[in-house]
Amino acid sequence: MNTTIKDCKIIKLPVIKSKRKGSITPIYNSVQIPFDIQRVYYLYDVPAGSERGGHAHKELQQLIIAASGSFDVVMNDGIKEKIFNLNRPSYGLFVPRMMWRELKNFSGGGICLVLASLSYDENDYFRNYNEFIQVKWQK
Ligand code: TYD
Repeated sequence: MNTTIKDCKIIKLPVIKSKRKGSITPIYNSVQIPFDIQRVYYLYDVPAGSERGGHAHKELQQLIIAASGSFDVVMNDGIKEKIFNLNRPSYGLFVPRMMWRELKNFSGGGICLVLASLSYDENDYFRNYNEFIQVKWQK
């Protein structure tokens, strides 16, 4: 089944809160998120005005979290577009396979934490938007 914007969901993550000591958010494979984590990476030191992403993945599923600061994730399924503003470490954006994404408007100190279902594989990327749409909707 093909994915659409409606499959991109904000997931509220558990928070263990202590007034004196701050908060903890634990995440388990296939419990809070609908996949097993194979890889974790994070984007940081993103200069003001810079954009990241600008690609889609054939199979990879991700949870994107603003671990610090804030940024926008523009999700595009080739038909509709939706902007998610991420600004809390206790919320994650679930990104299914075959979604074009752009990350922009990073705040100073913004950290984008990504939990990913697969190891890095350049063959899993669409880096050309037109090619992505063709494969997604004209099969
Ligand atoms: P890319 O996914 O294109 O970054 P972004 O979309 O955030 O701009 O990756 C940028 C470069 O980093 C690319 O050459 C591949 C490399 N990279 C890895 O080697 N391992 C990884 O886990 C990731 C995410 C990227």
